[in-house]
Amino acid sequence: MKIGVLTSGGDAPGMNACLANIAEECERLGYELVAFIGGYKGLMDNDTIKLGRKAVQNISHLGGSIIKSMRCPEFKTPQGVAKGIKTLKENKIDCLIAIGGDGTFNGLRELAAKDIHVIGIPATIDNDLFYLDKTLGFDTAVNTVTEAIVKIKETMLSMNRGCFLEVMGRFCGDIALYSGVASKANVIMLPERPLTFEQVLAKVKKCVKQGEESPMIVVSENLINIYDWARRLQEETGIEFKANVLGYLQRGGRPTVYDRLIALQFGIGAVHMAAVNKTSCALGVINDKIVPVSFGVALSAPSDFNFDLLKLVDF
Ligand code: ADP
Ligand code: F6P
Repeated sequence: MKIGVLTSGGDAPGMNACLANIAEECERLGYELVAFIGGYKGLMDNDTIKLGRKAVQNISHLGGSIIKSMRCPEFKTPQGVAKGIKTLKENKIDCLIAIGGDGTFNGLRELAAKDIHVIGIPATIDNDLFYLDKTLGFDTAVNTVTEAIVKIKETMLSMNRGCFLEVMGRFCGDIALYSGVASKANVIMLPERPLTFEQVLAKVKKCVKQGEESPMIVVSENLINIYDWARRLQEETGIEFKANVLGYLQRGGRPTVYDRLIALQFGIGAVHMAAVNKTSCALGVINDKIVPVSFGVALSAPSDFNFDLLKLVDF
């Protein structure tokens, strides 16, 4: 058995741990493992390395991806997919495991449609694959972001400033929701629950009336211009407002224990599914067991946004 692996899209903490588990399980079962460098670009260009136990022995604690995780627009074309298939055939790969988000799964679905054996492992900090509770990397990102908000709150509080904090998530509000609730932010702005400037102003005035000296507003990216809104809020309230984009800080770092554990379950689970030829699927989790999920289901599951959690802090 010869397995191929790649990491694709925005990297997520836990990708390396997952690679290590795949490599170790392959070695234990006597399978060969070939990695394609840089996601679908490496697949198209036949850019490979062999991944044995030795190569992965000290990587599980590292953020990022040692085999690089990239975006590759060309793979969205039939020509790109054809190049990928040629590489897989040349390398005699029996099954390709791709670790990434919904875009990566779309690529796998194209390959599966051409009878290539593929398995998808859900990994993205955005948590925007709604067929499962938590994608690999999300827990680490939320912990990092919560820690950052708490630190920023300390300095804001000591100077009586308010702050807008923009966090990642693409078009999914989960990072903002979970970190905002955990850090008890005063306002949480989410794509799933848009707020006008007037609504934000009213919430800020209300919390100030209740004694808040440093209103914290956590904002999902792609919603507003936080610099503009900070200036306007300052004019309206007389409180000095800062604006802070957390950026790539929240995508790096050591995976949490939760992410290390699901990296292990996904990595070993993927190799076992390849072994019994259970392919053309993404991996999901039901009752702590790894299960195959069709790409159709995985990619069309509706958003399961946790409004109950939001209601606990946002009135
Ligand atoms: P993520 O996998 O984290 O959602 P992207 O959306 O950037 O990240 O997708 C990763 C890569 O998957 C893209 O750069 C592209 O190579 C591939 N991909 C995305 N959509 C498709 C598609 N419709 N068909 C084929 N490949 C795709
Ligand atoms: O998908 C992960 C993510 O970090 C999103 O949260 C963010 O919108 C995007 O990637 C940023 O992409 P790039 O690294 O290409 O700037």
